[in-house]
Amino acid sequence: MSDRKILITSALPYANGPIHLGHLVEYIQTDIWSRFQKQRGNECYYICADDTHGTPIMLKADREGVKPEDLIAQVGKEHLADFVDFGIEFDNYHSTHSAENKHFSSLIYKRLRDDQHISSRSITQAYDPVKEMFLPDRFIKGDCPKCNAKDQYGDSCEACGATYSPTELKNAISAISGEKPIEKDSVHYFFKLADFNAMLKEWTTSEGHLQPEVSNKLAEWLENGLQDWDISRDAPYFGFEIPDAPGKYFYVWLDAPVGYMASFKNLCTKTNLDFDEFWAPESKTELYHFIGKDIIYFHALFWPAMLHGAKFRTPSAVFAHGFLTVNGEKMSKSRGTFIKARTYLDHLDPEYLRYYFAAKLSAGVDDIDLSFEDFTQRVNSDLVGKVVNIASRCSGFIKKRFAGQLSTQCAEPELFQQFTLVSENIAGLYEAREYGKAMREIMALADQANQYIDEKKPWLIAKQEGKDQELHEVCSMGINLFRLLVAYLKPVLPKLAAESEDFLNIASQPWPNNAQPLVSHEIKTFKALMTRVEEPKIAAIIEASKENLEKIVSPATKAFDPIADEIEFDDFAKIDLRIAKIVKAEHIKGADKLLQLTVDIGDETRNVFAGIKSAYKPEDLEGKLTVVVANLKPRKMKFGMSEGMILAAGPGGEHLWILQPDDGAIAGMRVK
Ligand code: MSP
Ligand code: ZN
Repeated sequence: MSDRKILITSALPYANGPIHLGHLVEYIQTDIWSRFQKQRGNECYYICADDTHGTPIMLKADREGVKPEDLIAQVGKEHLADFVDFGIEFDNYHSTHSAENKHFSSLIYKRLRDDQHISSRSITQAYDPVKEMFLPDRFIKGDCPKCNAKDQYGDSCEACGATYSPTELKNAISAISGEKPIEKDSVHYFFKLADFNAMLKEWTTSEGHLQPEVSNKLAEWLENGLQDWDISRDAPYFGFEIPDAPGKYFYVWLDAPVGYMASFKNLCTKTNLDFDEFWAPESKTELYHFIGKDIIYFHALFWPAMLHGAKFRTPSAVFAHGFLTVNGEKMSKSRGTFIKARTYLDHLDPEYLRYYFAAKLSAGVDDIDLSFEDFTQRVNSDLVGKVVNIASRCSGFIKKRFAGQLSTQCAEPELFQQFTLVSENIAGLYEAREYGKAMREIMALADQANQYIDEKKPWLIAKQEGKDQELHEVCSMGINLFRLLVAYLKPVLPKLAAESEDFLNIASQPWPNNAQPLVSHEIKTFKALMTRVEEPKIAAIIEASKENLEKIVSPATKAFDPIADEIEFDDFAKIDLRIAKIVKAEHIKGADKLLQLTVDIGDETRNVFAGIKSAYKPEDLEGKLTVVVANLKPRKMKFGMSEGMILAAGPGGEHLWILQPDDGAIAGMRVK
């Protein structure tokens, strides 16, 4: 038994949308670590909550005609149900819209204010005169002040990459009311982050707090100097009112990380845990935050500074992970790769995904790719083909020939010992979040166990006279090795582990560093612990995830003659023609006909290869509108995946003209 006391968090998911497979990278990564710590005998708590405040949630509730409180209650329930069904075992799941969070957010603010770390001053911002509210940058749209590209957000231009302030945007409109925003002054409150410059330099570079690549990134930010952080928003805002400033609310990112404390406090109240033991400045306990790489700034600068300034302990470490791509690309609604947790659960076993993510995860911040081919192959070959197979190969004989009873002695104590000797090595890999390496170690053991069985050939021994004892011992050995494999996989595959423990008729397995072989022990009847991934189920998930796009019928196989063969209107309607904006156009090394285009089709951007190099210079294309076939099946080309086709006319070569809509058309419009 160890005496580590550990508090673990995952980032708090926003309460304005469903959990998707990208989120699950994080919750599965954290859950594996938490389960591992518990299996090792550490005292460990894994907590989380919904992140409920802010403008997007307020506006969404508005649009749906419900109170924000009702919206977040409903979404909170759905989030938790998704997590539970994926085997994510929180010790507490709370909400940032809670009494505990209001208490700690206010307390932290007051302590910072009393120590002069808060300042206030008036700033000018865009204001929606109809909706009577200040507009966050992403709720303002207009023309880029640099390149005149239409329909750009208030902070940066997707066409030319310029960044600017929303007041510089031309022809700006409020995305909420469509009205022209006015400029309005208002007092804001700021957290003086620069007061913590020295503390943060120290904290971000101390051994173990951050991954090396994260620490380097932060060094750059620290070099550039720390700006005051605007922590207030004006009413109307869904959040907590600032104690000494009526009509002003804490910006959602102020109270969001405080939600970690609030959720833990809520747990303490329910279980009589000592809150201060975990959060006092001199705490001996460990505190870890698992987060995605997009929110490092908040967790590695603002949060430690806030905690330190308000006289709480700082985190033991912040662990950042990369982003999920699906089949090598950003998740996309039209390709059906923006997959909700629930859609996956409707079709496939969650433990497949837990294993697959584990096999792909490392301690770094690299993005991880879910390739469905690789997913199917790995799950089928590793879990079904290697691990579960051992039990199914051996248990039949034990049941039929030996009344479910394992042999009285272990046939190969050395082999058994080999399996336990690596336990600290595997534990070290889990501890270091090198799950991919841990999975490879465990699968190497599974290979060894299968090799043992292949060499002994119990199915042949079973046919020979007088070899009962050997058959008994070989099969018992196989079962014993299976048991250790399951113990090692338990943080990743809790359901498989529990069902195996039931089949093996044993108590919940601790980490197997001191495991002894099971002898003269009765096991239960084997039942299929895991079945193979069936590919039609994956196709069904992708189909169910496709949004805003007419389903295409598979292309006709016979050659189509456009003159002789008339088509029905329905055939034409299958083609999703859309106005697209060419955001980027580039030469491709080694290609003499093709240009690589990045086109914005409204709800996403696509990569398209177009044979128009002899007719256009890339710089003349950027910013132009054209027409693309948006539902053309993506095609793998020599230089990458082409995700659509742009329309052009002409004999070819330099005599080629892309189709362009009249003024007024906007990227994303359907061509009808
Ligand atoms: N509400 C904030 C976090 C506040 S923490 C005090 C937030 N929410 S989120 O719902 O957008 O994301 C929750 C977590 O999921 C974040 O750590 C984020 O990085 C992670 N991911 C969201 N999409 C992801 C992928 N596509 N891939 C991997 N992780 C991703 O940020
Ligand atoms: Zn621009």
